[in-house]
Amino acid sequence: MSGKISSIQHASVLLGYEALGEIVTAAGAESILNGKLPGYGYESKDLWMHSLAVAFGSKIIANIKNPALAGEAHTAGLIHDVGKIILDGYILNKKEEIESFLEKEEKTFFDAEVQFFGFDHARIASEVCRKWKFPEGINSAIKYHHQPSAANESELAYILHMADYIATLSGVGYDSDDYLYELEPGTMDHLGLTQETVSDIVLQVTEAVSKVAV
Ligand SMILES: [Fe+2]
Ligand SMILES: [Fe+2]
Repeated sequence: MSGKISSIQHASVLLGYEALGEIVTAAGAESILNGKLPGYGYESKDLWMHSLAVAFGSKIIANIKNPALAGEAHTAGLIHDVGKIILDGYILNKKEEIESFLEKEEKTFFDAEVQFFGFDHARIASEVCRKWKFPEGINSAIKYHHQPSAANESELAYILHMADYIATLSGVGYDSDDYLYELEPGTMDHLGLTQETVSDIVLQVTEAVSKVAV
C-alpha cells in the first residue's frame, strides 16, 4: 500500500497496534544488528538474520505455550544477542589468545567470554536492556538465554533458549557457537514441546524469515 498510508494512526488501524509495534521495533533493531562483527566472525546481516529467526521462533513458542507473552517474546528474541556487538571489539583485540583457547576441545565463544572478560554477552545484553528501560521480564530472560534454569522460573527465558536452539537448527543466519549449541536439559519438557513440534517450528521459522528478509 505504498503511498496510501499517510499517518501512524492510519497504519495502526490497518495493521493493528501490536503488529505496528513489532515492525517499528524490528526496524530499530535492524539498524543496530545488521553490521559485521569481525571478532565473532559474522558477515554483515548474519546476526540480524539470526536475531529475526529467534524473534519469530520465540513468538511461535509463546503462542503455543502462553500467548500473553508473544509480544515480549518477539522483542526479546530480536535483541537477545545485542551484547555481542559490545563485546566484539574486545574479542578482536584478543583474537590470537581467544582463537587458541577455542581450539582447545569443546570451547565456545561463550566460554571464551567468561574466561577472558568474566561475563558473557547475555549478561551485557541484559544490562543494555535495563539502561533502555525494557521490562524486567525481558531483561531477565535475555540474561539467562543460555541457562534458563537459572532465571528463577522465567518462562520467557526457556522460550528464548529454545528459539535460539531452533534458529541454529533452521540454518538461518549464523550464531558463533552454532555447531556446539546445546539445549539445556529439561527445556523441551519445561515447555511441553515434542520433537515433532520442534521440527514444525523450525520450518515455520525458516518460512517466516524468508518472507521478510532478502
Ligand atoms: Fe546468545
Ligand atoms: Fe543467539
